[in-house]
Amino acid sequence: MSDDLSGEAHETLRVTVMRQEPGQAPREETFDVPFDDRTSVLDALDWIKDHAEPSLTFRWSCRMGVCGSCGVMVNGRPVLGCETTVAGYRTSGITVGPMAHAAVQRDLAVDTDEFLAKLRGVSPWMLPPPAEPPTLTEPPTVVEPVETPGPTAVPALDVLAVHTQTPGQVEAYRGLSQCIDCMLCYAACPVLDDVAGFTGPAAIATARRWDLDSRDQGNEVRMVALAENEEGIWPCTQVGACTRACPKGVDPARAIRDAQREAMGG
Ligand code: SF4
Ligand code: FES
Repeated sequence: MSDDLSGEAHETLRVTVMRQEPGQAPREETFDVPFDDRTSVLDALDWIKDHAEPSLTFRWSCRMGVCGSCGVMVNGRPVLGCETTVAGYRTSGITVGPMAHAAVQRDLAVDTDEFLAKLRGVSPWMLPPPAEPPTLTEPPTVVEPVETPGPTAVPALDVLAVHTQTPGQVEAYRGLSQCIDCMLCYAACPVLDDVAGFTGPAAIATARRWDLDSRDQGNEVRMVALAENEEGIWPCTQVGACTRACPKGVDPARAIRDAQREAMGG
């Protein structure tokens, strides 16, 4: 938003913000916010904080759709505040609320711990092959003392052999790797209204991202976490709200469907 908006005659937008102190009930506060065609929801919240209500609390960092921290509900729909312009709402105004399916810490700032715990639960990193169990029938190996080699004698890790991928191998997971953990799909998911323990679209999409990576060997570990848990992949009914909400073009609904099929042996 242009810095000069507050000093000139501009259109104003009705912005209602859901506010909440810890331990108290939510309440609405409404502000008339000047805007132009470039004004984002995040700009509008900044204007309120700078000109009307300094205590208004909300998260942001990059202002460019990268960090994933500015998610809010606008008229009931999860969006990135920094990437959503308000001009299209000039007649209806907007109601800005905290992300669904997360506890409110204050105003629009929500607790992300549960979301991140579910993400960690699918081991969202590159895993080595499962360790072979030790063979107990073999006699113990006698280790002969050897002369300690100098640093130059250590064989160099063949980095290229370990990490090289063909364009096709990268393409297999590239779309899913665009996730910025913004939680928009998690807020949009209707299953979480009823099954609070559901792993959720972002974590499952991230699990698939690694499963589809030719360098990763963790598919078995992740499938145990997702398929042998009734709240893992099974509650999803393929409504597709997650995919429609995603600002990065990730397709969590397809990732979940693929995981369900794989778990059923398909
Ligand atoms: S899948 Fe999309 S909507 Fe969900 S957390 Fe990742 S970037 Fe956000
Ligand atoms: S502020 Fe970083 S994604 Fe919006």
